[in-house]
This record gives sequence, C-alpha cells and structure tokens, in this order.
Amino acid sequence: MQVLVTGGLGYIGSHTSVLLLEKGYNLVIVDDLSNSNEKVLKNINKITGKNPIFEKIDLKNKNSVSKLFKNYDFDGIIHFAAHKSVNESVNDPEKYFKNNIGSLENIISEIKLLKKPMNFIFSSSCTVYGQADSMPINESFELKKAESPYGQSKKKCEEILETHHKSGHSFKNITLRYFNPIGAHPTGLIGELPIGTPENLVPYITQTAIGKRDYLTVFGNDYNTKDGTCIRDYIHIMDLAHAHICCLERLMKVDEDNFFRVYNVGSGKGTSVLELINLFENVNQIKLNYRIGNRRNGDIVNAYADASKIKNELNWSTKYSLENALKTAWSWQLNIN
Ligand code: UFG
Repeated sequence: MQVLVTGGLGYIGSHTSVLLLEKGYNLVIVDDLSNSNEKVLKNINKITGKNPIFEKIDLKNKNSVSKLFKNYDFDGIIHFAAHKSVNESVNDPEKYFKNNIGSLENIISEIKLLKKPMNFIFSSSCTVYGQADSMPINESFELKKAESPYGQSKKKCEEILETHHKSGHSFKNITLRYFNPIGAHPTGLIGELPIGTPENLVPYITQTAIGKRDYLTVFGNDYNTKDGTCIRDYIHIMDLAHAHICCLERLMKVDEDNFFRVYNVGSGKGTSVLELINLFENVNQIKLNYRIGNRRNGDIVNAYADASKIKNELNWSTKYSLENALKTAWSWQLNIN
C-alpha cells in the first residue's frame, strides 16, 4: 500500500509517518521544507529503520502536483501540508489562502482524474468552531465565523471537500478536526519545531524552561473559567497520529465510493493554562518563570472536544497521558538544544 503524506516532515506529519511506516505502509513524503528540515527525515529513518521516498515539492505548483500523480500510484493520501501560524496569517492572508486552499485544489484535481476512488484524509482544526456556545464540542456544532485567515482557510477547505462529496465525485474522505496537539515521540527524536518565537503554549513553556525565553506570559487570567485562564483540549501527538491510522484503515475497508465523515480528535478534557503550567513544573521538576499578562486578541475562552464519534465509529482512544505529553515535550526540547 502506497500512501502520500503531504507535509510529512512537519509536526503531526512526522509522527504519523512513523506510525504508518511501522504498520508496513510504503510512504511518499512530500514537503516543501518551509517549516521543517531534512533532519526530520533522518530521524524518521532512525526510529523506524525504513527509508520512505521523499519529494521536495511545492503543492501550490499545479505542474509539480500533476507530475507527482503521474509518477506514483497512491492507495491513500493524508494531506497535512499547510501554513499554520495564526499571527502570520493575519499579516499575510494571501499566503494562507494561496497555499492552504490552492494546494488542496491541485490535489483534488488530480484525484478526479484517477480511475479509482481515493482514500483521502484532511487535516482540519477545531478553529472552525470559533467560540462554541456550550462544551464539549461535537461535530454537529455550528461552524462560526473564523477569527483568522488561517481559520478561514481551514473552513474553506472543509467546504470544498463537502461540495465535492455532495456533487458525487468518487473519493472517500475523512476530515479530522484537531484540538491542541502537544508532546513528542517517546524517543525524543522528533517533535514540534517552531521557527522563530513560538506562538503555541507548550513550545513557549519549554523554551522558557530551558532559558531561551526570559519568561512566559499567560495571556489573561480574568476569563470566566475555573482559574481565570483559557481552557483547551491538549491531545498527545502520538494519540493524534494514531487517529490517522484508524482513519486510513477504515477508508481502505469501506465500500462506499463517496464516503464522507468529519471527526473531532481531542482528549475530551479541558485544561487551563495555569493547570498546564503547574503540571509541567511537577512532572519535570522544574520551576517556570511566568507572568500574567493581557489577553491575546482573538483567543477562544474555552474549547474541548466531545470525541465520542471517533471512539465509537473507529475504535480510537487516547493511550498517552497529559503528564507524558509534557515529559516528552521537555525531553524533546533538551534534545534539540
Ligand atoms: N498562551 C499563553 N501564552 C503563550 C501562548 C499561549 O498564555 O505564550 C495561551 C493562549 O492564550 C491559549 C492557550 O495558551 O489560552 C493555548 O494557546 P495556543 O496558541 O497553544 O493554542 P490555540 O488554542 O490558541 O491555537 C491552536 C492552534 C491554532 C488553531 C487553534 C484552534 O495553534 O493553529 O488551536 O483553536 F487555530
């Protein structure tokens, strides 16, 4: 079975690639290296002992995508490749629309030329829900206006996939709405590699703990939550990666040419910023320098998943704890320093 993994050297893509290789899939990893590097490929090889094919391709380029589909006969596609910085997207929306939407459109055009229904998994985000009216969030919740061009791009991609599904094009699609992935592979050889100053909480915590940043700012402690700080659903990267395996196995078994599902992937548990900081300090026995600051623009107050649909339909469940995620995030930080 040959699987195309776009963005396969990125944070979620690399962990998923490792699990796919361990399951015996042949991989073609495509990445433009805009937010990763070839060392990740070496470490994937170190962990698995396997050498996936790697193609450095910009998926915005239609000709490159056509060539890719001419050269290989894929049985499945997992499409991770996308820009993901909320901040950057506000400053340069066009970059996000061109890349995130354009790449998906190029891939779909090629899928439509194939003689068989493709098994296709798309990376979406819980950002499509905006601030939901109640918790936990299930897949039938209304999708609110996206807060950032990044969020808009994910919402648009979901709409494109649904339109293709409704117009009867034969490709089998699962869209996953990720909550907040954290942690690293148990070996500490792959993990999240933020370029420049991290926007996300856990890389900011680990970089502060190691002394790369002077202090962490907690963005607001006056929200209407248990301790005044925002609540998120932190999911271990290994559990998230495993969700893709469950999806691919399901798609490969399903007979329906026009199969279409959307699943949340989260732990189902809401954790506040302060709770996460305390847990990080406890499990790693390290003191974190942090200060309470102003609220961050556009932050959602509260978001955690009802993940019962993926549990019931695909038999997926979380196997790793939040403690383990914070331990591996720290080992990873120590390794890359
Ligand atoms: N936070 C801080 N200090 C920091 C960084 C983050 O207090 O230095 C807080 C945020 O205010 C938020 C929480 O930590 O309350 C989590 O923030 P992240 O930036 O790690 O995650 P978000 O939930 O805000 O954003 C993530 C992804 C986005 C995606 C979004 C979906 O990074 O790509 O989830 O809701 F759009």
